[in-house]
Amino acid sequence: MLYLWIKAFHIVAVVTWFAALFYLPRLFVYHAMADGTADIERFKIMERKLYRGIMNPSAIATVALGAWLLYLVPGFLEQGWLHAKLTVVALLIAYHLYCGRLLKAFAEDRNRRSHVWYRVFNELPVLALVAAVVLAVIKPF
Ligand code: HEM
Repeated sequence: MLYLWIKAFHIVAVVTWFAALFYLPRLFVYHAMADGTADIERFKIMERKLYRGIMNPSAIATVALGAWLLYLVPGFLEQGWLHAKLTVVALLIAYHLYCGRLLKAFAEDRNRRSHVWYRVFNELPVLALVAAVVLAVIKPF
């Protein structure tokens, strides 16, 4: 029973993490296109609040609750799907941290990338989401 409660909140944390992983790069798209000072300053605040208030806490909760599930069922550690999923998670964490670097560049008015670059960058978490969910639910190997 405890296990299922933890799994339910693991999934809630995953959903909120991905809401931020999709929305922050979308804000970068609009920020890269903005030219008015008021708009630019508003994007900086939205990005910072999203990153610190939603994205970081959700990532920590996802990993902590996932680790708790593994503590309760250590047998998963010997299964291939979990190794593959942890690889996907490592890539997601790298993406997350890279978003933090981009955010800092925007905050200091140092962004040189185009909105098209951010549109492509914005699509990458979709691949990770599909891969991680298929691995966790289907457990193909
Ligand atoms: C370090 C990070 C993570 C760890 C250690 C972890 C670990 C786990 C474990 C042990 C389970 C239980 C599997 C079961 O009961 O059959 C689980 C379930 C699940 N995880 Fe994760 N996970 C992590 C991150 C993620 C991420 C990033 C996603 C999505 C992108 C995700 C999506 C899911 C889903 C959808 C389930 C439910 C599977 C089911 O019950 O059918 N997890 N996770």
